[in-house]
Amino acid sequence: MGDAAGTILDRLAGHERQGLHALFDADPDRVGKLATRFEWGEGETAGGIRFDWSKTHLDDVLLDGFEELAQACDFAGKRRALLSGETINVTEGRAAEHTAQRGTGADSSVEEAQALHQRMRLLVEAIHAGALGEIEHLIHIGIGGSALGPAMAVSALTRDLELVDCHVVSNIDGLALEAAFAKCNPAKTLIAVASKTFTTIETMTNAQSALKWLEDNGVSDPGGRVIALTASPDKAVEWGVDETRILPFGESVGGRYSLWSSIGFPVALAAGWDEFEAMLAGARAMDEHFRDTDGRDNLPLRAAFADQYYARLRGCQTRACFAYDERLALLPDYLQQLEMESNGKRVTSAGEDVDGPTAPITWGGVGTDAQHAVFQLLHQGTHLVPVDFIASIAPGDTLDPAHHRILLTNCFAQGAALMEGGNMSADGTDPARAFPGDRPSATMLADDLDAPTLGALIAFHEHRTFANAVLMGINPFDQFGVELGKKMAKDIESGGGSFDPSTQALLDLAGVRQ
Ligand code: F6P
Repeated sequence: MGDAAGTILDRLAGHERQGLHALFDADPDRVGKLATRFEWGEGETAGGIRFDWSKTHLDDVLLDGFEELAQACDFAGKRRALLSGETINVTEGRAAEHTAQRGTGADSSVEEAQALHQRMRLLVEAIHAGALGEIEHLIHIGIGGSALGPAMAVSALTRDLELVDCHVVSNIDGLALEAAFAKCNPAKTLIAVASKTFTTIETMTNAQSALKWLEDNGVSDPGGRVIALTASPDKAVEWGVDETRILPFGESVGGRYSLWSSIGFPVALAAGWDEFEAMLAGARAMDEHFRDTDGRDNLPLRAAFADQYYARLRGCQTRACFAYDERLALLPDYLQQLEMESNGKRVTSAGEDVDGPTAPITWGGVGTDAQHAVFQLLHQGTHLVPVDFIASIAPGDTLDPAHHRILLTNCFAQGAALMEGGNMSADGTDPARAFPGDRPSATMLADDLDAPTLGALIAFHEHRTFANAVLMGINPFDQFGVELGKKMAKDIESGGGSFDPSTQALLDLAGVRQ
């Protein structure tokens, strides 16, 4: 964080705070200024999402100040570097080219991604046509970025039609794989092994057990049922996967940004190729907006302004996301990895200590369930938690419209109540029934939750994460923080390493040391 950025933040920290009601009263056009419709396509392919930050504390002074901060942090230069395939991931010496998967990036990377997508499309269509026999089930084995995206997208996009019944298994706990086995007929099951590195212990162990399950259940050529999704095709070959069933992707696509690559194979297989492409198209629309729009009008950047305000100037340690849509039930988990693995850092790209807090703890759930579980704390707890609400105007269900109407009214009522505050006791004085109010929320309201909308929403969050990283001066594309625990587990497995007395006692008690 440069001196100029620090000075701007210090100045903004001194900006006189106004409550949300006062902000609305002071500016009759507040909603017009802070709620923006983002849209794409025409006719049948048209869609849109309304992004509304008017119930946050952003005002003109803060927006001006954060625009200055973005300039001081060279946001435009860093964005150009990201989108043109420069080495933006400086600690690992590589580019971060997930947008090239959607058509925005260095020409050579976009062409490579298109060629690899074509290869994936041919395989998906061949499987649908029966080239690998009668396939009814897919067990997709991967973890972290190789699982969270596919799991979320499959669950969001296959409510109406699932061409292949898809199970995403990530945990090394054998119960996870056994639960998938219980739902699949081995004679009609395909195994996708999804791993960027093709070395992750959980994934490789699960893959081995899945092969054994096929074999034990009379499948004559279990290896012929395996598809590898990886940036390390040589390792997949070594492991025994035939080259014709390896769907590679580029090393410069980060794990938690890899849904758009062959890691999205289950989405294409379960929802169909057109749906997968439509998801990419929605993301591309958001990429183009992010690339071509400056200042507060840039929606991911505006979101990052609010994030920076609450994390750095108001001391909020967490941020919550509630999807008022069952189809997005896995979105909070996905966002948790995206934000916390990207921006949960303590040094800048230059290796200096970060001046202030970095990624908030990201959490959330699904509405209305969460209202009956955790919203107590949001309304009356001592923590100030900025909340994102996400919903769709069009329902996903076909039941009585009352279901969707009640869902949406609850979503909007929660945002209003968080802001409103008051006292619900008869005489208005009981402290137990008092609501402080003035609690911030943002709302993302989609026309419909279809594939382009999902793509646009995810791309929005990817760019928001990047924009936050730029404003903090950190590299969002490495994740060295996951390595030490992995190494110690390996040491234990191999019988090496020396441990503290507590860990030693646990190892002895469980008898897990080899
Ligand atoms: O341990 C963290 C991590 O490296 C994630 O970043 C990644 O998405 C996940 O593990 C899985 O890695 P791989 O795709 O190489 O198996």
